[in-house]
Amino acid sequence: MATKAMRPAIEGGSPVRDEFLPFARPAITEPDITRVVETLRSGWLTVGPRTKEFEKIVAEYIGVEKAAALHSCTAGLHLSLAVLGVGRGDEVVMPALNFAAGPNMAIHLGATPVLVDIDPETLNVTPEILEAAITPRTKVLLPLHFAGRPCDMRTIMDLARSRGLRVVGDGAHAIGSDYGGAKVGSLADATSFSFYVTKGITTGEGGIVTSPDRDVIGRVRRLSLHGMSSGAWKRYSDKGPWYYEILEAGYKYNMNDMQAALGLTQMERVEVFRADRERIAAAYTRELANVEGVVVPAACLTECVHAWHLYPIQLDTDALTIDRNHFVLALLEEGIGVSVHFIPIHYHPFFRDHLGHAPGAFPVTERYFERAVSLPIYPMMTDGDVADVVTAVSKLLSHYKR
Ligand SMILES: Cc1ncc(COP(=O)(O)O)c(C=O)c1O
Repeated sequence: MATKAMRPAIEGGSPVRDEFLPFARPAITEPDITRVVETLRSGWLTVGPRTKEFEKIVAEYIGVEKAAALHSCTAGLHLSLAVLGVGRGDEVVMPALNFAAGPNMAIHLGATPVLVDIDPETLNVTPEILEAAITPRTKVLLPLHFAGRPCDMRTIMDLARSRGLRVVGDGAHAIGSDYGGAKVGSLADATSFSFYVTKGITTGEGGIVTSPDRDVIGRVRRLSLHGMSSGAWKRYSDKGPWYYEILEAGYKYNMNDMQAALGLTQMERVEVFRADRERIAAAYTRELANVEGVVVPAACLTECVHAWHLYPIQLDTDALTIDRNHFVLALLEEGIGVSVHFIPIHYHPFFRDHLGHAPGAFPVTERYFERAVSLPIYPMMTDGDVADVVTAVSKLLSHYKR
């Protein structure tokens, strides 16, 4: 007979953890707090010297000349698509396994998000998948570096150039990812990163656009502040420092100096954070790869660096007596915070009605979604936390084995 410890907590057994392990938690330490408090004391809270410094540090890290710091990755996707000329009637190709930001921003610009399926191993789009979706109306390819695993950007850029298209990278998960020696954010016409609280580094909320083209960044920056003129002309103007001109219809999407102050201390540890995530991913893979009932995420090729924003396992639901939803509820009862990334875009009522895709349209995405569970992975996790996750997952897999 199963002992209380072996019985799932959801069925009255003892949970693996008494204290709940959150799915995500930012790595905030004293230097972060000190820098933000210093900023508050300085009296300069809005966009200013710290934002400029943050842009410089991120640009250097990615390997580009310029970057534009914004209040979110969503804002960055919006402005990137706008700057690259996306408008009414255009098509923007992106994966169905996605967050709402990319499709929503395309729609706000009057364009159509063209959804595509993913590669079952990398969970990313491939150049071949993107190419098959190109039509005369395609304007931009919008690959997502899912979970922090980089797409093959050199080949995607070659494809785009050969077809006269532009590329926007969704780098929300991918600060620090690298494919073949090129960091995510260094090759695409524009790449938008997220500094939301669960991401590789955080500014609370925030984002940044990087581009190898300084003109793209100049336009993103201008659009982020109402389309206001700035920079060199002021020095030669006979008008006072109060003077500005609106050069196009912009938005109000800028980052502020309190966010940037946090970003600066976070950037000092960006590689440490990535290494922490990599270490946790390696431990999960070591402990779970041979456990029946689960498929671990495929390791990166030797030439690629994974940011491990997420560690998405897939349940072999044919070998289990429960489905993914029940597994998630059972893990929560064991005291382990988990999540699912993502509900396929075409499953949401709005996109279903707007785009008209029926279930079955993207079989790899849909099969992945039915089986997907994202395990906690973040620098603040201890070895004991990681061991508890492994114990809880193994316990449930063994109990619910068919
Ligand atoms: C793939 C993807 N793109 C874009 C975003 C939007 O990021 P933000 O919240 O910074 O706008 C997210 C947020 O989680 C995401 O997961």
